Amino acid sequence: MKKILMLISTHFLFAIDFDALREMYLKDSIYWEKPLIDERVEYEEINALPSTPPYPAYNPYSQSKVELGKKLFNEPKLSSSNQIACATCHDREFGFGDGRKLSYGHDRAIGRRNAQSVAMSAFGVEKFWDGRAKNLEEQALMPIEDKKEMAFDADSAAKKLNGILEYKILFKKAFGTENITKELIGQAIATYERSLMPKNTKFDRFMRGNSKAMNDKEIWGLHIFRTKARCMNCHHGVAFSDQKYHNLGLTYYGRKFEDLGRYLVTKNIDDVGAFKTPSLRLISQTKPYMHNGLFPSLKGVLNAYNAGMFHPKPNDNQKNDILFPKTSPLLHKLNLTTEELDALEAFLNTL
Ligand code: HEC
Ligand code: HEC
Repeated sequence: MKKILMLISTHFLFAIDFDALREMYLKDSIYWEKPLIDERVEYEEINALPSTPPYPAYNPYSQSKVELGKKLFNEPKLSSSNQIACATCHDREFGFGDGRKLSYGHDRAIGRRNAQSVAMSAFGVEKFWDGRAKNLEEQALMPIEDKKEMAFDADSAAKKLNGILEYKILFKKAFGTENITKELIGQAIATYERSLMPKNTKFDRFMRGNSKAMNDKEIWGLHIFRTKARCMNCHHGVAFSDQKYHNLGLTYYGRKFEDLGRYLVTKNIDDVGAFKTPSLRLISQTKPYMHNGLFPSLKGVLNAYNAGMFHPKPNDNQKNDILFPKTSPLLHKLNLTTEELDALEAFLNTL
């Protein structure tokens, strides 16, 4: 029997054929309805993650590197106080984020951005909300040196480890040398982070053909994500990120919490207030959301997208300011109903 949901909105009555949607999404993506994408945006279809994460040729996978990297990731000795490890702010329980709006580090100093999950580290090249690290290996050493995070320096951290026999043995096993350097620390941590890729989410299982892995509402949400909600303009491919930078109107320009984002790295005026599109994998575990942790819940994020996000207007003093941030033209009012927003949220929770 066909399951059809009738929805009465204020203006019209429409029906959703759940069986037909399920059937379509179980087929190869070439048979899917086209996503709603703006002109000139290039996209890749969403899909299940590969069975193993991609490792770059300059730092290939080995089990001994992963094991060493895991130990280093949890090692407070990499901080000057011997109290703060990467895992302090990237905790498995919070999808490898820290569950806080902003992070606490050395001497309980508060940073200015929300800790990202490291679970999707294998994807994308540039790291951080503004992309200031050119790859994951380089990124891994930056928190060690950040005054508000581990407040140390990477060479001293390497020196400290050189004095610990257990690490000499582990580095020998992973890299064939007992001479511990910051570069090798970076490589081991990066290899461990890449190995964290989630594998068996409901969405992955559904994409691999398990028709029972997602319920009707979740599949409807998937369809809305690709079509009416226009999310695929930026969140696409297996990582649900175009790995590009966009301005959602959260710059707080000229105010206390101003964050110029990508512009701080490129000095290109088109990048003022732009941040890297985050992956949406494990999104149910990585609240709060956005670079500044503005939204405590997914509902809040979705309501803001539905309203077209934020479009701050310059005040009289800012009228001729060429740096005044411009919200991405890819964001529009969506007019999603409450039922559609619920379904969209249910879909995001399958990731
Ligand atoms: C004090 C909290 C804190 C500590 C300690 C910390 N991080 Fe982070 N991490 C953050 C915050 C906050 C961000 C986002 C900063 C930004 O984008 O400017 C971040 C971002 C990252 C990212 C970027 C993810 C992406 O998708 O671009 C990676 C990878 C990462 N951290 C790994 C590590 C590693 C490895 C260590 C240990 C060597 C570490 N972190 C220690 C808070 C922390
Ligand atoms: C114009 C590109 C663009 C579009 C379209 C877009 N996003 Fe985003 N999304 C981003 C960027 C960039 C961020 C981070 C912005 C920031 O922190 O300032 C983000 C952040 C998010 C976050 C928070 C993630 C986190 O880890 O904090 C969620 C959830 C999200 N988007 C879901 C969606 C959904 C659902 C849609 C469709 C309704 C959508 N996005 C449409 C670019 C986009």
